[in-house]
Amino acid sequence: MIAKSRRKNIFLIGMMGSGKTSVGRLLAGELKMTFVDIDETIETVTEKSISEIFKEYGEQGFRELEGAFFREKAGQNNQVFSTGGGIILDEKNREVLHHKGFTVLLKASPDSLAKRIRNPATRPLLYSSHDLQGRLTQIWNKRQKLYESVARLSIATDDLAPGEAAERIIDYIRDIDEDN
Ligand code: S3P
Repeated sequence: MIAKSRRKNIFLIGMMGSGKTSVGRLLAGELKMTFVDIDETIETVTEKSISEIFKEYGEQGFRELEGAFFREKAGQNNQVFSTGGGIILDEKNREVLHHKGFTVLLKASPDSLAKRIRNPATRPLLYSSHDLQGRLTQIWNKRQKLYESVARLSIATDDLAPGEAAERIIDYIRDIDEDN
């Protein structure tokens, strides 16, 4: 097993509602790594909600902030990241996901995602949607290739509790560590 101080980052990517934050917290706790939630970091530092940022600066402004925070934080090691669903849209972020750690894609069907997203009003990309599942399918279709291009491991979380998903990631990482 790689010594804690040498462990690279673990990046959790995936759609809104795929479980990145709950799985990430558990994973970080189990592996004694630092947990970083990019959306939460942005909200804390700017003292604005993600919705307010979208309203004031538009999606492009949000993406610039998101990328800047993400790439800055990813400069350190031994962290588990819960990234925002759109982190893979920027090529500079995809470079980091490739090279600065181990990237895990959490997947779930639009039906599961929609059930888990209790309050679409806090997610600007879903605001005006009367058909939540349809909107999530549309976003997934646009992003699927990008998510898959950077993920070294993919886990379907539909039928998994967050702790079970975290265990699968840990098992996989332990196997790789042992092979090295
Ligand atoms: C977004 C996902 C959100 C948040 C923002 C945009 C996206 O994060 O960053 O609303 O583009 O998919 P979560 O994936 O944590 O909900």
